[in-house]
Amino acid sequence: MRDFFPGLAGVAATKSHISSVDGQQGILEYRGIRIEELAAHGTFLETAYLLLFNELPTSSALQQFENDLRRHRRIKYRIIDLIKCLPEHGHPMDALQAAVAALGMFYPTPDVRDPEARYWSAIRLLAKLPTMVAAFARLRHGDDHIQPNDNLSYAENFFYMLFEQQPDSAVATMFDTSLILHAEHTMNASTFSGLVTASTLADPYTVISSAIGTLKGPLHGGANEAVIHMLEDIGSVEQVSVYLDQKMAAKEKIMGFGHRVYKVKDPRALILQELAQRMIKDEKHDSLLTIAHVVEREMEQRLGHKGIRPNVDFYSGIIYYQMGIATDMFTPVFAMARVAGWLAHCFEQYQQNHLFRPDQIYEGPHNRPYEPIESRGHSSSVT
Ligand code: ACO
Repeated sequence: MRDFFPGLAGVAATKSHISSVDGQQGILEYRGIRIEELAAHGTFLETAYLLLFNELPTSSALQQFENDLRRHRRIKYRIIDLIKCLPEHGHPMDALQAAVAALGMFYPTPDVRDPEARYWSAIRLLAKLPTMVAAFARLRHGDDHIQPNDNLSYAENFFYMLFEQQPDSAVATMFDTSLILHAEHTMNASTFSGLVTASTLADPYTVISSAIGTLKGPLHGGANEAVIHMLEDIGSVEQVSVYLDQKMAAKEKIMGFGHRVYKVKDPRALILQELAQRMIKDEKHDSLLTIAHVVEREMEQRLGHKGIRPNVDFYSGIIYYQMGIATDMFTPVFAMARVAGWLAHCFEQYQQNHLFRPDQIYEGPHNRPYEPIESRGHSSSVT
């Protein structure tokens, strides 16, 4: 009997130097540096540099990196035209995936192992994702796309392109911290999906579009959006208990809880919760944050013994909601951050490449006769 690991749980798919997670102690490190340190002292772009180049940048290296990024924030008018053609009720993650795939057609990468080509693809993807996310957010409502402003920081510029005004500096800093916390997370589903694509030596734009498609699902990055819908459905602290009982009786998952690796509270959720509390100083009785706190307490009583606790998606949505970002934009914002980690893994894969081609255990029949069409009685359904 061959070994079979559903969901590849516990199977190492690669060797990596990028990040590590200790799910028992709740420790997450990027290139050996604890995320608490990065969140307290770093910026998202420093973190992206660290993930890509293995070191925190010197001030001149950071300046060069930031300048390169600022110069590449604009997107071609044809990409804008493409985004304009997408259905306005379509999901922004689908729009982002389509736009990123199209981006690769404008910047062909004939040799993915060329360090120069790798650098510029990373710059373009990091710089242009926020522009594409903000463009779809506005164009779908019939508003004009706003050109990026090179004088603004990464976070300020994103808010400016979204809302036509700069955020206050506390909001920009909190947003930046949230991006740091979402930038990387070892071998998760979207990173693995990107890695499989990279292992075929497909270009980084194609790799990132694969990863974006995988991040969208509600069991992965899409959970941040689902959490807000859940908290809104619950509606009041008094309803929390009934809601959870009903969901659990129906064997449905509670969004924003549980993790394949963490058996304690996700360290990112701890920091994001603190950010949410800092942001929402006077918590109203039935605010989303108050309801979230009661959900967390009630969940601890119900499923804490199984190690099912808040993950990164539980508090992030509350922060973005409070910042005025539309709920269906939460996962694209997650992608704007995670592109740093995806790219780091993609480049690591190119350097130590071995095509992913796993096996399967076939359980179907063999040697079936070919039935003539007139004697086929069964009706088929898609499986
Ligand atoms: N609510 C209720 N029960 C849960 C939850 C949850 N959120 N998560 C796990 N469980 C239960 C399962 O029902 C199962 O119970 P059983 O042993 O009685 O059958 C047990 O815990 C194990 O669950 P699995 O789904 O098999 O565990 P897995 O490691 O595959 O799941 C996952 C991890 C997919 C994240 C899961 O916890 C989940 O679906 N959570 C909700 C969605 C979510 O928040 N996703 C975001 C994850 S973070 C990220 O991707 C960025």
